[in-house]
Amino acid sequence: MKHRGRVILALVVGVACLVAFTLAYAANKAPDKDITIDSKVYEKKKKTPVVFSHPKHKDIKCADCHHEYKDGKNVWQEGQEVKKCSACHKEKEEGDMLKLEKAFHDQCVKCHKELKKEKKKTGPTACTKCHPKADKSE
Ligand code: HEC
Ligand code: HEC
Ligand code: HEC
Ligand code: HEC
Repeated sequence: MKHRGRVILALVVGVACLVAFTLAYAANKAPDKDITIDSKVYEKKKKTPVVFSHPKHKDIKCADCHHEYKDGKNVWQEGQEVKKCSACHKEKEEGDMLKLEKAFHDQCVKCHKELKKEKKKTGPTACTKCHPKADKSE
């Protein structure tokens, strides 16, 4: 009887671990819906927030956009927690650290421009395509 109790306990603990792991992993999966990039580090925001779709960028490797550098190498891997870009890139440049606005533009707009030059399917490069004109009622 005692033995059986332990087996059941082991099973319960095992299942709980699996659930916790699955939830943690699912939380780090790419959102399947549009997200809105609206960082809160700017003293005064000049442009409207930007809608970004992971599904539309599914052919690009996660680690091409998400990173965490150690000794100059990107050590971030798919499944790990994703920090906001603004956790590291701030409103103003800090040493070698790109400021947030430039970090986004260097990632997003640069790629769209390069693909456009190569005449491949690409995303927008015009300001208002990413930052729609502000609603007058605001
Ligand atoms: C491919 C999409 C894209 C294009 C094209 C683009 N931006 Fe952005 N821009 C972004 C993203 C994403 C951010 C980050 C927003 C945030 O951090 O909340 C940003 C941030 C900014 C910011 C800093 C935040 C603010 O609102 O003050 C400014 C200013 C800005 N963009 C201006 C421009 C201008 C001007 C153009 C055209 C020359 C342009 N952007 C084109 C995506 C784009
Ligand atoms: C083209 C660039 C790009 C690619 C590719 C990309 N992401 Fe993202 N991801 C972003 C940006 C930008 C954000 C928003 C960051 C911010 O708000 O500071 C984000 C946010 C996230 C978030 C947080 C979502 C939230 O609601 O807070 C997760 C989780 C995530 N990405 C996972 C992934 C995974 C997993 C992959 C690969 C399957 C992936 N991303 C591919 C650019 C990308
Ligand atoms: C954990 C901190 C951290 C986060 C989060 C982070 N970055 Fe960075 N980023 C860095 C560091 C450090 C560098 C400088 C790397 C180097 O060149 O040695 C960098 C460099 C960059 C560069 C220069 C080229 C490159 O890719 O190395 C771009 C563009 C950039 N980041 C955009 C982003 C965007 C967009 C996000 C959010 C999707 C983001 N970063 C999130 C720390 C971070
Ligand atoms: C490595 C290349 C690459 C990077 C980095 C990248 N994009 Fe794109 N983007 C694309 C491609 C390719 C498409 C066209 C996808 C399609 O039409 O299927 C696209 C399409 C888009 C579209 C149009 C989506 C639609 O609904 O038609 C928007 C908006 C966009 N990107 C915003 C962004 C923003 C914001 C970032 C930075 C956070 C970003 N992209 C980073 C390659 C990239």
